[in-house]
Amino acid sequence: MPSVSFIPVAALHLSLIGALQGYKWTYSGPDGEHHWSKHYPYCGGAFQSPIDIKSELLRFDPTLRPIEVQNYNLSPDEQLTLGNNGHALQISLPSKMHISSLRYRYSAAQLHFHWGSSSRIAGSEHMVNSKQYAAEMHVVHYNSDKYPNISSAVDKSDGLAVLGVLIEVGEFNPTFEQFLRFINGIKYRDQKVQVPGFNIRALLPARLDEYYRYDGSLTTPPCYPSVLWTVFRNTMTVSQKQFNALATALYSSSAQESATIPLHSNYRKAQLVDSRIVLASFKEGLLVPILVISALGLVLIVSFICCLFKQKRSAAEHNESKSVGYNIGDRDEYGSRV
Ligand SMILES: *[C@@H]1O[C@H](CO)[C@@H](O)[C@H](O)[C@H]1NC(C)=O
Repeated sequence: MPSVSFIPVAALHLSLIGALQGYKWTYSGPDGEHHWSKHYPYCGGAFQSPIDIKSELLRFDPTLRPIEVQNYNLSPDEQLTLGNNGHALQISLPSKMHISSLRYRYSAAQLHFHWGSSSRIAGSEHMVNSKQYAAEMHVVHYNSDKYPNISSAVDKSDGLAVLGVLIEVGEFNPTFEQFLRFINGIKYRDQKVQVPGFNIRALLPARLDEYYRYDGSLTTPPCYPSVLWTVFRNTMTVSQKQFNALATALYSSSAQESATIPLHSNYRKAQLVDSRIVLASFKEGLLVPILVISALGLVLIVSFICCLFKQKRSAAEHNESKSVGYNIGDRDEYGSRV
């Protein structure tokens, strides 16, 4: 498959100006998502993410292999940069971490989170059958077989692969705590701290074989449609306390600004699916059992009705044989003679 640089010169020019001048964008207000496309034209274009993954969009694809990741278990000696970029909490990742089960090698660059607020917990970007989860983690990788770094891959149609993990509030997550304990060091936009490496694999669900796959985009400006999306079917959990820490600790404003703006509800709404389909690496868990149970139920009901009918008929025949017994006998005789 040839790689397509899908950006026309005029749009690239606009995007570069946008990137260089750093056009402000936010999740609400006058620079909110409905206005992103003014300075970032791709945000108003095709193949946008996130989407609401509805059952009717799904097609089971038996060729989708389990996701395999390499070098995800980082040593505490390796320092990672934990940062607040004003839009999300982000952790830089070494490019030796990679996905080895796709057509190309996709090397890791960073992971970040989208989340709700303490008053409205729901804050995932992808939804499953219109259910929005508490938060979502994106582990961003770039095609390192074809491109030297993420900046040259970010605008290519085969440039990025993102692993998406939906997050629910539930059990305490000890791995999440590995970086959450440093969150007060990055309260303001553009602040960064170094944190010890940890096992990133432990942030993914145990099962990497069950996922949704579709072609989409960055969920933030410049919204390039360059992402091969993998959203895992299984979720991870964080405790209520951990969620609250994430939802209340950070500001989208810098330390220099006089007004502090809290950083939460940093998710983009579901985008149009258009002509896309979503591939599933698994068969829908409930549909098959429901069909089997329905079929069994139907068989049971039919045999029950047959039984009743038979009983009724034999009772009727019994009555009949009392009055016109010869007829039945005759019939039987005729039958046996033929
Ligand atoms: C990424 O690679 C391109 C092409 O080799 C190069 O021009 C650019 O400087 C690199 N960018 C970074 C941030 O390393």
